[in-house]
Amino acid sequence: MYSQKVLEHFRNPRNMGEIKDADGIGTVGNPVCGDMMTIYIKVKEGRIEDIKFKTFGCGAAVATSSMITELAKGKTLEEAMKITRKDVAEALEGLPPVKMHCSNLAADALKAAIEDYRKKSGEVKL
Ligand code: FES
Repeated sequence: MYSQKVLEHFRNPRNMGEIKDADGIGTVGNPVCGDMMTIYIKVKEGRIEDIKFKTFGCGAAVATSSMITELAKGKTLEEAMKITRKDVAEALEGLPPVKMHCSNLAADALKAAIEDYRKKSGEVKL
């Protein structure tokens, strides 16, 4: 079923929690199952300095959130925008096919948080 990597991230999620004075916040719901995820980012000089997540979802959602925070931390916003659900699933050494939709949440929430930051900072016009 799950790879060791998924189980390990599920048992010891990295960067779980909330950033109170976040620069960008992205919340998405999964249309397939109704689960929800929020990602918070702190941005400094165009890089993701800090990132945390809150997930109301299944074990695969927890593991993918945990993994995406590790992948995105320290990256520029452009690099972080390019992280796909496939990258997350590969970093976790695969997800069971019925759980692939869960990795959408993490990738979409990260993008939503970056877009939120860009709107707030005036980097892009609404
Ligand atoms: Fe909902 Fe996995 S079953 S995110």
